Amino acid sequence: MYYSDDLIEEIRSRNDIVDVISSYVKLTKKGSTYFGLCPFHNEKSPSFSVTPSKQMYYCFGCGQGGNVFTFVMKYENMTFTDAVKFLADKAGISLPEQEYSPEEKRKADLKSQLLDIHKEAAMYFYRLLKSDKGQRAYEYLKERGLSDETIKSFGLGYSSNYSDDLYKYIKGKGYSDEVLKESGLFTFSEKGVYDKFSNRVMFPIMDINNRVIGFGGRVMGDGKPKYLNSPETVLFDKSCNLYGMNIARGSRKESFLMCEGYMDVIALHQAGFNNAVASLGTAHTPRQANLIRRYAKDVYLTFDSDNAGVMAALRAIPMLKASGLNVKVIDMRPHKDPDEFIKTLGAEEYQKRIDNARNSFLYQIDNMKAGTDMSMPESKAKFYNDVAKKLLEFEDELERNVYIDAVSEEYMIPKDSLIKSISRMALTYEPPKNKYESTNIENDKAKEKKKVDKDDGIRAAQKTLITWLIDEPELYGKIKGIISPKDFVEKPFDIVANLLFEQLENGNINPASIINRFTSEEEQSEVASLFNKNLLEDMSLGEKEKTLNDTVIKVKKNSIDYRNSTVTDIMELQSIVKEQNELSKIHIRL
Ligand code: CTP
Ligand code: MN
Repeated sequence: MYYSDDLIEEIRSRNDIVDVISSYVKLTKKGSTYFGLCPFHNEKSPSFSVTPSKQMYYCFGCGQGGNVFTFVMKYENMTFTDAVKFLADKAGISLPEQEYSPEEKRKADLKSQLLDIHKEAAMYFYRLLKSDKGQRAYEYLKERGLSDETIKSFGLGYSSNYSDDLYKYIKGKGYSDEVLKESGLFTFSEKGVYDKFSNRVMFPIMDINNRVIGFGGRVMGDGKPKYLNSPETVLFDKSCNLYGMNIARGSRKESFLMCEGYMDVIALHQAGFNNAVASLGTAHTPRQANLIRRYAKDVYLTFDSDNAGVMAALRAIPMLKASGLNVKVIDMRPHKDPDEFIKTLGAEEYQKRIDNARNSFLYQIDNMKAGTDMSMPESKAKFYNDVAKKLLEFEDELERNVYIDAVSEEYMIPKDSLIKSISRMALTYEPPKNKYESTNIENDKAKEKKKVDKDDGIRAAQKTLITWLIDEPELYGKIKGIISPKDFVEKPFDIVANLLFEQLENGNINPASIINRFTSEEEQSEVASLFNKNLLEDMSLGEKEKTLNDTVIKVKKNSIDYRNSTVTDIMELQSIVKEQNELSKIHIRL
């Protein structure tokens, strides 16, 4: 169902956010804002705020926020459309049966078509698995110990060995090739169109709202590649989804189990560990870490026992910790992965491994030690020094002392000399630049790292400017000749800037309505965080002015670089050159 923006905005504005949230959370008024205990993470003192003037909520503890739709989606575990219906009903607004014909709707919304296609495909694969054609695949899954219930709850399926079976089926539903090309499910070539997945066991990948957004497919047996995955599409962003999260988020456990593979997640769930998730065949990302942090404080890494698994854990630890997660590492030796562990030793033994999981800091030290020949005085000394340096990463003195005790005892390093080394190093210590990368991992991807740093800075600048404009709309008059929405090149700031500039121009700022434009909780929360920061409280006017000019120039410069690299139009090129010349003249006075 597709509803117009105006209708959605009306439904939103007729549901006062304080009223709605009050029916779920006890709120107390402090000044112009209401506070309560956050329903989305465990806390003892209230950091969950609801601001009537913005019609938004935001939790300063877990960083989640949004408008009234976001809240209902999260709390009631609903999709955007369901939340719209729910709140329309609450406000006594009757919804039109259908605003557009199915044809019009389809054209209007590529994303919703792709969602439909994925849903159709998943059901198709599932039915095929249960049919005669899928007998071998079904037996394969059974041999791997999966129950019918597990197969159903993960929606596992089978892709036929005819090379265009799915294509014919989906095409028959009336979708255009143009859209099917965007789905990532087919290969278009001069010879024809082929299914990307054929003769594989299919694992639908779902987002947190149970919508199928991609697939993984496994060969039955030893063929290569073992797994084939959907490419990234407008639906499928690997960096912000986790396999199994749609179920794990509802587990109401205080921790998550993070594993490497589809089968690991499934085996763990079947054994009762329904808080298991996996990244999608790629490295773990900060966005995945933040997703986990929305639901829990602790995460247990249960990666493969081989060297690659150890390296993956060492890479993931600093990144997960940077999101505020406590990280522990599960030792599954002598078994390869959780799937095999559970199969041989069972759930009870696995629970024991969880209980004995290694603190991630000590795990890092264990690995530093494993690479050291302790019989050589120089390498032993270097190890001690590295340990001291690593301990410096704890900013909190109490915490650091706890670890100094633990480390000196476990590794038999004399405590007073460890403390001396730490104090000596503290004088020249520089914390690791990129918070997501730990210092003890050799990193041959220095270039890539630099790019990430740069991107983060640019995103931060765009974010700052938007937040600032919301906090102090007067600023708009001063920057409007210099900065325009097209200077915000990163998602979702591009969309937010377009809407916000329009509101600023008309003099009616309405952040909650901007959130309407995003239909996933993830995006809504990210946008809400833009509108709920107090950047500028403690700055002097001079500092503010300098920060503003630095930020504007950074955003502008990046926009010019970006447009320069994509320009095809001569007028646009001239405009870029002009803006480039004016860059050095930017000076905004407050
Ligand atoms: N993977 C992938 N492409 C491959 C191999 C692996 O995308 N060619 C991803 C998959 O998500 C897979 C995960 O990496 O689930 C872990 O891979 P691996 O350890 O090789 O496989 P298992 O999970 O043990 O798979 P299985 O038990 O089915 O052999
Ligand atoms: Mn496995």
